[in-house]
Amino acid sequence: KNATVISAPFSGGQGKSGVEDGPEQLIKYGLLKDIEKLGWNLKNVNPLSEMDTDKMKKDENDVYNNCKRPTMVSDCCKLIYNEVKSSYEKNSFPITIGGDHSIGMSTISAFINTYPNGGIVWVDAHADINTPSTTESGNLHGCPVAFAMGLDSENWPPHFNWIKELKTKVKPNQITYIGLRDVDDGEKKLLKDLGIKAFSMYHVDKFGINEVVRMALEAVNPNGENPIHLSYDVDGIDPMYAAATGTPVRGGLTLREGLFLVEEIANSGNLVGLDIVEVNPALSSSAQVHLETVNTGLSIARCAMGETIL
Ligand code: ARG
Ligand code: MN
Ligand code: MN
Ligand code: MN
Repeated sequence: KNATVISAPFSGGQGKSGVEDGPEQLIKYGLLKDIEKLGWNLKNVNPLSEMDTDKMKKDENDVYNNCKRPTMVSDCCKLIYNEVKSSYEKNSFPITIGGDHSIGMSTISAFINTYPNGGIVWVDAHADINTPSTTESGNLHGCPVAFAMGLDSENWPPHFNWIKELKTKVKPNQITYIGLRDVDDGEKKLLKDLGIKAFSMYHVDKFGINEVVRMALEAVNPNGENPIHLSYDVDGIDPMYAAATGTPVRGGLTLREGLFLVEEIANSGNLVGLDIVEVNPALSSSAQVHLETVNTGLSIARCAMGETIL
């Protein structure tokens, strides 16, 4: 069993700094050792090692229409795409650790261009499906799903032509959400118009997490045989357990709900790729909050890679 931990120390998809230190913190607190203990041969790579991201982030002219820092996001996301794609091609399980969630445009595009029949589970408080036309914030971490789906591509900054040219786009029946509770009006319309199956906190309360995971897997993997990619924004989990993140929203998944869904997806035997994003150590109000958020990220990784309680 081979896996590649792809460090993506990237913050250009949103304004706050600190999220670029997520990978380093996850590794410092044991990510690599934890996964090796579960029987994986690991490699750790950083496709952004040559990029001067501090300098890129300061470039105030890097704006196109409504989108902030398209050059930075596109250049970095392209490198991440190539790394994830090559990991998939080598049959090495890619674990991409962010960084902000704009990198999801790379990870799920690499996944779907390797496995055109695959299914994506996106765990998040947010739908991250804004287009350049709908985004209110201009932050590209709110847009990765739209880019991977090719939505509104007439209005994309030309920087993203490389994504436009990828052979396979994510189709509406290939992605599902768990944990939503802060969805912008434009996003609600897109989800409805496209018929994307989305499970919000309302559904988790109504049906319970077990049933929600079952329905989510049924939505993107009806025959039970397709590969699954899990893109996990730690803000999907309640700020009680993961407060050190840029856009926390109250009323989220409990720690156990958030881990159970990962255990269940891992149990399906179809999980082939994982993202853990939006851990921002700089936003910790105390050493304890810092540890809790990092540990939440580590627990997600262990559950995905096969750890079981008994
Ligand atoms: N919907 C908001 C926006 O587009 C928030 C996005 C938050 N995304 C995230 N990956 N945390 O700006
Ligand atoms: Mn989010
Ligand atoms: Mn909002
Ligand atoms: Mn997100």
